Formats: sequence, C-alpha cells, structure tokens
Amino acid sequence: MSNFDSQNVYTQIADDLRATGLSIIESAVDPQIIQNLNKRIATLEEDKFQTAGIGRQSDHEKNVKIRRDKILWLDQGNKLELGYIQAMDELKDFLNRRLFMGLFSYESHFAHYQEGAFYKKHLDAFKGRANRVLTTVFYLNDQWQAEHGGELVIYDPNDHEKELCRVLPNQGTLVTFLSDEFPHEVLPARKSRYSIAGWFRINASTAGHIDPPR
Ligand code: OGA
Ligand code: MN
Repeated sequence: MSNFDSQNVYTQIADDLRATGLSIIESAVDPQIIQNLNKRIATLEEDKFQTAGIGRQSDHEKNVKIRRDKILWLDQGNKLELGYIQAMDELKDFLNRRLFMGLFSYESHFAHYQEGAFYKKHLDAFKGRANRVLTTVFYLNDQWQAEHGGELVIYDPNDHEKELCRVLPNQGTLVTFLSDEFPHEVLPARKSRYSIAGWFRINASTAGHIDPPR
C-alpha cells in the first residue's frame, strides 16, 4: 500500500471545478501508478499507436492540419493501465457525490506527440449535443522543460482568443476541465511527448434531453 493521499487531490479538483470549471494539479496521481504507466509505454511499439481522428466526417488531409498525435485507447484488462483507470473511476464517484455531476463512464487514450506534433485549438465537446462533459489530461514526461515546447494552452470560455494559461506536460500533472467550455491546443512539441487524454460521459441515452422519458 502506498500512502498517497488521493482524497486530497480529488477534493482540490472538486473545489477548482466548482469555482472555475478548470483544475490543474501537480503530483496528482500515486507514483506507483505513474511507474506502471511508464513501464507500459516502454513496452509499446510505435506501430501500436494509431493516427488520431477529429470526428466522423473528417478526412485524412483535413485531419493532419489539425492534429498530429498518435493514440492508443487504454484497456482495463492491462494490469499496468488498471491503476490509472481505477483512480479516474474514484474521481468520477467523488465528483458525483460532491458536485452531483452525474458522470457515468470514462474513456481514455495514450497520446504520443512525436517531435513537431501539435493539436490546434479545439473544444472536446459541442454544447448541448455533448455527452463528453469532463476532460482529463494527464502527463507522463519526466523533467519536461519550457524549451521542449508542447505546452497545453487553455483559452477563456468567454473569449476564445484570450489565453488563460499554459501547462507544461510534466510527469504527474493532471488537468481537468468542462469539455464544452474551454478551448485548448497543444503547441508543437520539440521532443517526444506522452499524455493520457480522457473523458467522463453522462449516460448517452439521456444526453441532450432536459427531461428524459422515464
Ligand atoms: C485531446 C487533447 C491535450 C494534451 O486529446 O483532445 O486536447 O495535452 N490533448 O495532450
Ligand atoms: Mn482536447
């Protein structure tokens, strides 16, 4: 058993979300879980990662103008990935109790940004139609420095041109935000960059309905 205080992290995230809809926490995950994720990444061949898409109608040419990362979905059947998935599941239950968010499921993928890769400014969900309600981004890059580029830039929900902050994708940092509120982008990375992007969804059968049929 590690003595990592996850309850303290979840409390901080809930408080931040309630105040602003955005939370940025360093050392947010048990070091043992991070070690397992790093082990997993070390065993992954680059050909296991797939070119990421930008939604159903997208074609490849349009795609590569917008994002250049390669992704691989996490699988709870993998022992090295399970701890992270469980931590996010605990966070889900915590936020549901604390903020009545009604989060229902979680999906997440590793993302590998090779040197030069980026992801242009985007929203993770569209208002009203979305059942992706809360985004998480977790970083796995030991000793990431500003000169390595690859910052996550987060923009103001009320002014999409106004930068709110830049986050270094440093190992252990977890960013959580309302998916349909905060535009964000990944600046070109100057070296290999790993993250796990994830989304909590509400129940798909009730998404977008204010008064779902019983
Ligand atoms: C995404 C995303 C940010 C990051 O995958 O939608 O915005 O820092 N990722 O990896
Ligand atoms: Mn995104």
